[in-house]
Amino acid sequence: MLHKVTFAIAVSAISLLVADCSNSKKTTSSSEMPSLKETFQKDFAIGAALNGQQIQEKEPNAAVLVPQQFNAITPENIMKAEIIHPEWDKYNFDLADKIVAYGQKHKMEINGHTLIWHSQLPAFVRRMKDADSVRHFFTDHITTIAGRYDGKITSWDVVNEALEEDGSLRKSIFLEKLGEDYIVEAFRLAQKAAPNTKLYYNDYNIEQPKKRAGAIAIIKKLQAAGVRIDGVGIQGHWRASNVPLKDIEESIVEFSKLGIEVMFTELDLGVLPNPWDSDAADVNMKAEYSAKMNPYINGLPDSMQVKQSKGYEDLFNLFLKYKGQVSRITLWGVNDGQSWLNGWPIRGRTNYPLLFDREFKPKPAFYRVIETKTKSAGKKAF
Ligand code: XIL
Repeated sequence: MLHKVTFAIAVSAISLLVADCSNSKKTTSSSEMPSLKETFQKDFAIGAALNGQQIQEKEPNAAVLVPQQFNAITPENIMKAEIIHPEWDKYNFDLADKIVAYGQKHKMEINGHTLIWHSQLPAFVRRMKDADSVRHFFTDHITTIAGRYDGKITSWDVVNEALEEDGSLRKSIFLEKLGEDYIVEAFRLAQKAAPNTKLYYNDYNIEQPKKRAGAIAIIKKLQAAGVRIDGVGIQGHWRASNVPLKDIEESIVEFSKLGIEVMFTELDLGVLPNPWDSDAADVNMKAEYSAKMNPYINGLPDSMQVKQSKGYEDLFNLFLKYKGQVSRITLWGVNDGQSWLNGWPIRGRTNYPLLFDREFKPKPAFYRVIETKTKSAGKKAF
């Protein structure tokens, strides 16, 4: 059954592609479509995470849509350690160089994601037992990669997801082997290797008070040590029906008081049930598939579409209120079919978390986002 559905989706995607190729007007239904990056040009950058195919411009629809809608990009996976640094002495810069060329060609901000993260580590690091080896990897990895792209990319998520939900430091291989100063060390190394690149701390749920306090402690510690941190990224993997607006607003205010940029770096509003009724976006969390947990294989009901549009609208109204503090909003993917939320925390589901549908068409949420600006612009004019 699922195979049939997948097959049907694949066939309709192909026919769409063929239709698009034979009639360029169809792909450029985009030409009448408003542009996110133009709409918010004076407010903040609008980004998308790109997968390997998109970076190589192998997806015709994305090749048209991405430069039209976005002026910032983040590689979804290809700068992560397991891909860019697969063995002790082997770096694989192929796709990373391509995303840099792509971003430069389209004059986009490029956010490097990510230097130090406990997940998607190469096997040789996961096997490490002694602190010296971890330190050697850590130093070489940051210095080599941050150095190579300095002056070519805008920023780095230097450290990703170093906190537990209670605000304490995550028990990762880095904490265990290098001790709690490893975050300051990571930024110090990045600062030295990449003096022209902005340096950020990035995490999920840091809008929540306890975890936010942990992030503030990290930022203050860096500042007290005289090490540069330019911004903080709140990932923003929220549920459409439960966007924590009050916590988000408080976080924008508190983080910006520290004199750094605030960004929303991995925004998506999932619509599927969560097995733990939780907002944690820990990549290690996994649950079993069941039909009950995958209710919308045949399409998103209008009621959910409305909830999601409202969630995005509320968020963008808030972002606009703090446009002086918020520098970038990045969506974690281009279209619904490509989102990681189809595979996490349960594999094989059909989620609808982004602003473009599986056929790259703008969803109601897209128009509501645009209207947060055009309506307020209208209001101001009168
Ligand atoms: C995700 C990617 O989207 C997936 O393709 C991959 O399999 C796992 O990682 N927080 C992050 C991102 O910082 O790097 C994660 O990206 C999503 C959660």
